[in-house]
Amino acid sequence: MLRFAPLPLLVVASLLGACQREPAPPDDARVSARAKAALDPFKSSLKAELSAALAASPEQAVAVCGERAPALARDASKDGVVVGRSAQKLRSPNNAAPAWVVPVMDELSRASTDGPSSRVVPLADGRRGYVETIRVGAPCLVCHGEAVAPGVAAAIDARYPKDAARGFKAGDFRGVFWAELSPSAL
Ligand code: HEC
Repeated sequence: MLRFAPLPLLVVASLLGACQREPAPPDDARVSARAKAALDPFKSSLKAELSAALAASPEQAVAVCGERAPALARDASKDGVVVGRSAQKLRSPNNAAPAWVVPVMDELSRASTDGPSSRVVPLADGRRGYVETIRVGAPCLVCHGEAVAPGVAAAIDARYPKDAARGFKAGDFRGVFWAELSPSAL
């Protein structure tokens, strides 16, 4: 004969189960929306400051980029989100990729131009990572192209003796924006 557990016991058991259940992990769409919201002000202010500086003088724009890009990344890193830029061929050693970004950046660099251009990855302790491809556009060639004007090249050399970020063509994979999100940000 079948024996059933008394009803109150079942209720207690299912309540315990409910309490033990982990909260559902944030889905990738939520992670990338949160990462994009953190990266947007960084991207738009960097673009605005770089365009203004370029219009004034490409040589001086090198200094503006060198000082403002890291400052803008710091400003945009808050509320449990840290953002940055990186590349395989680096200009500034300070932009070296965090360890978790390296394999994701390598994977994105192999994607074709109409392939995937961003990835969400799980990290330790419930943190999440987001990485997004940066491609070279025409204005970037002034400082990252194959034929950098001598004055601009001199300004780059003075500041970045180990620069490896020249010789690109429009459309090339240049690097990535990345964001690291703590569970409190999601
Ligand atoms: C006026 C010159 C100049 C122009 C134009 C320029 N960059 Fe840069 N770029 C720099 C400098 C200088 C750095 C190093 C900034 C730093 O010290 O963080 C840099 C760094 C970067 C980095 C970070 C990784 C690294 O190599 O240090 C990326 C990615 C990047 N540039 C992409 C671009 C793209 C894409 C464009 C076009 C939209 C562009 N840059 C236009 C001068 C320039």
